[in-house]
Amino acid sequence: MSKILIAPSILSGDFANMEATVKKVEEWGGDLVHCDVMDGVFVKNITFGMPMIAALKKVSGLPLDVHLMITEPERYIDEFIAAGSDWLSFHPNASKDPLSAIRKIREAGVKAGLVFNPDIPFQPYAHMFKECDFILVMSVFAGRGGQKFIESSLQKISEIKAYLRENNLDIPIEIDGGINEQTAICAREAGVDILVAGSAVFGSQDPAKTIKALRGE
Ligand code: DX5
Ligand code: ZN
Repeated sequence: MSKILIAPSILSGDFANMEATVKKVEEWGGDLVHCDVMDGVFVKNITFGMPMIAALKKVSGLPLDVHLMITEPERYIDEFIAAGSDWLSFHPNASKDPLSAIRKIREAGVKAGLVFNPDIPFQPYAHMFKECDFILVMSVFAGRGGQKFIESSLQKISEIKAYLRENNLDIPIEIDGGINEQTAICAREAGVDILVAGSAVFGSQDPAKTIKALRGE
């Protein structure tokens, strides 16, 4: 991938007006709308589910990048596809059968991704990478916005990139958590293709400028 993509997370947006939130993401120059789905079980928080994705699909001019933080995601994958997810990722350690879930997502023409929390090694799942469209590396523990970037995630990215190279796979890597103008530099240097940013974009005085800076422009 050449151009770095920015996926502002609407977790930091206005929950009373999500239509305006996604329109702003588009106006500010975001590339994807990152939607954090939390179930109160896999992570402590509860956010929103399929009805929100379906509603956003009607008003968003940008692809929806849906990050599932739910237990046994396979129970809901059909519904998240039907709701209009364009990119759909889940934590494989939350799933009983991650490979079937990936295949189901891909067969529907949706981009499939595996997500790794900082304490979850990717190696046991690496054989599935050839069937993925992207890999999402968490640089905080999934569950809430506004946390501090965990530096060791950069090491994991280098290891994933080495694995991909050795296996002749060209798959984009997304990073999520604690991304701001400073940590984005390290992420770009590590070869990340897609950056998620919640608080850095929505808390900015000039979000359009922040998005450009995150991209390194
Ligand atoms: C955390 C979510 C993130 C979150 C990022 O569980 O997956 O997408 O919105 O927020 P910031 O950019 O504020 O760390
Ligand atoms: Zn996320």
